[in-house]
Amino acid sequence: MALPTAVKIVEVGPRDGLQNEKEFVATATKIELINRLSAAGFPNIEAASFVSPKWVPQMADGAEVMAGIERRAGAIYSVLTPNLRGFEGALAARADEIVIFGAASEAFSQKNINCSIAESIERFAPVAQAAKEHGVRIRGSVSCSLGCPYQGEVPVASVVDVVERFAALGCDEIDIADTIGVGTAKRVHEVFEAVTKVFPRERLSGHFHDTYGQALANIYAALEEGIAIFHASVAGLGGCPYAKGATGNVATEDVLYLMNGLGIHTGIDLNQVVAAGDFISNAIGRANVSRAGKALLAKARSEAACS
Ligand code: HMG
Ligand code: MG
Repeated sequence: MALPTAVKIVEVGPRDGLQNEKEFVATATKIELINRLSAAGFPNIEAASFVSPKWVPQMADGAEVMAGIERRAGAIYSVLTPNLRGFEGALAARADEIVIFGAASEAFSQKNINCSIAESIERFAPVAQAAKEHGVRIRGSVSCSLGCPYQGEVPVASVVDVVERFAALGCDEIDIADTIGVGTAKRVHEVFEAVTKVFPRERLSGHFHDTYGQALANIYAALEEGIAIFHASVAGLGGCPYAKGATGNVATEDVLYLMNGLGIHTGIDLNQVVAAGDFISNAIGRANVSRAGKALLAKARSEAACS
């Protein structure tokens, strides 16, 4: 299949990236990060979570973050909502999109949201219905689509099953998430070949973590399957509180460098993203793990020193 000529990059650093930070990141820092990302041109930013602060304390200030950001016209600001209480928070915060998050693995579902896959779908049903009633977009995220930290192998049929259940709830978009970054290109092909039979290809996204260094190869495999929505985290921020050892999402700068090289349109300014990655890495005292980000920062510094 020909590669797409344009892709949507969803920046998930402010949520998926920061949620794993042990030290509380100041609300003002989160807001500045999102504002910088908005200015860089992202069409969609995952900005916050309305989950239990007992489970993910780092995301406790979602309402303040959403109230403080400058929204770029036309951009979608998404928030995670595990239940109706979360949805009410999202609605009050004027989120453009809510994210319900299930898993293709029973064990991970229990660890992440304290219920079985079937129970999670029951819990999401009224959330999805409320979102429809209020005209809020719904995204469904399928964790552990390429492997699980607790059960290991995840059958393709389990991923297809959750995608079908999310589709039945009316999801506008569905993420195939490699939560612990164990997937390889062959498996990516197999999973997308299967899920595109039950949900439209153009509304499926690839959410890859880079634990085993496979994320860019997996993105390329997904591009070959005609997938045109990808999630990425500036400076490679992140990990997963319920998946020990998992590193962050693929770094946004690296994905943009890949897309630019392929001539695939993103509408995002790589240099501004590199600056945002430098900002957040310094602000939270964390190493920037974007290869392209570090290379471009070093290049800019050496050019400045020579001029
Ligand atoms: P629970 O403990 O089973 O349920 O949590 P609960 O109803 O007993 O709630 C526990 C406490 O949280 C109660 O407070 C509730 O009121 C409160 P208490 O009575 O003890 O004082 N509570 C809330 N507070 C604020 N907002 C809410 C909310 N709901 C309950 N919405 C629950 C069940 C689902 C709430 C919990 O397990 C939870 O919040 N989990 C979220 C976990 C999470 O955010 N994980 C990370 C995101 S998933 C991810 O990163 C993967 C993804 O990136 C894709 C990928 O890479 O795979 C999306
Ligand atoms: Mg994730």
